[in-house]
Amino acid sequence: MNPVRPRRLRATPAFRRLVAETRVAPAELVLPMFVREGAAEPVPIRSMPGVVQHSTDSFRSALAAAAEAGVGGVMLFGVPERRDAVGSGATDPDGILNVATRIAAEEVGDALVVQTDLCLDEFTDHGHCGVLADDGSVDNDATLLRYREMALVQAESGSQLLGLSGMMDHQVAAVREALDGRGYTGTAILAYAGKYASAFYGPFREAVDSQLKGDRRTYQLDPANRREGVREAALDEAEGADIVMVKPASVYLDVLADVAAVSSIPVWAYQVSGEYAMIEAAAANGWIDRRRAVLESLVGIRRAGAGAVLTYWAVEAARWLAEER
Ligand code: PBG
Repeated sequence: MNPVRPRRLRATPAFRRLVAETRVAPAELVLPMFVREGAAEPVPIRSMPGVVQHSTDSFRSALAAAAEAGVGGVMLFGVPERRDAVGSGATDPDGILNVATRIAAEEVGDALVVQTDLCLDEFTDHGHCGVLADDGSVDNDATLLRYREMALVQAESGSQLLGLSGMMDHQVAAVREALDGRGYTGTAILAYAGKYASAFYGPFREAVDSQLKGDRRTYQLDPANRREGVREAALDEAEGADIVMVKPASVYLDVLADVAAVSSIPVWAYQVSGEYAMIEAAAANGWIDRRRAVLESLVGIRRAGAGAVLTYWAVEAARWLAEER
């Protein structure tokens, strides 16, 4: 008989731990957070049970909890009270995202990497990630001017890593140039390089009260395209990105693995709102084991090649991982 018996190494928890090829550490998890202008109390997000739009008070305590749990960072999103065609709130130093950034930098700026979403969709009254041309299309180069301004205000507010999620061509080069021109050479860029036009962002629309009608297919990637994700990551790296990301995570693990195989900079993945909602909904029905499903999803994303993962479970998962040690 063939003497090879792979089961030997699976026989005990100690063996399995010793031969595990992939681990997930709290430091590799980034928590996305929503802060709502004018909120006196945290506002629950119906389609994302357990996730809220924070008031500034609840935001402060959640930041402290994230630091305590040892996660690697926080990614901030603002939910403004007013919106307009050009997303003025994004570049107002007193706009909610910039206020939240100053709070985070002050409270946890040493313990965590404070990151900000650099995109106009939360701030525009039409919900698109950029400004519109007369014909209603999203104007790439006019949007870059807004992103440059937004980058400067975010850097000034204390963001350490700008999350460029708008999928405009040349956005990384434009933002890098703007930052360097004003002396922000130390502010890093996380490029959402392979960001797909996905139905899995559904619950996020509720999370930021998005005004979008229609979709983002003229700027986000077609889900059918694997090689194009690699192409976008290579372009962003060449334009000066410090980190590239693939998003969503679970349905795009092939793209993630491809990008990780050829990229010389860190590659991250974003486990998005719909991925969160699906597991939460199934678990709430008693159809899957919530904790095991969450941890398995994170191991899978790491195994495919992600160095770090943005996930709404970051703090809870970090606590579980600490317990399992
Ligand atoms: C754009 C942005 C989106 C998400 C993160 N940044 C929405 C979109 O592109 O439609 C989605 C994240 C999620 O679904 O969890 N500012």
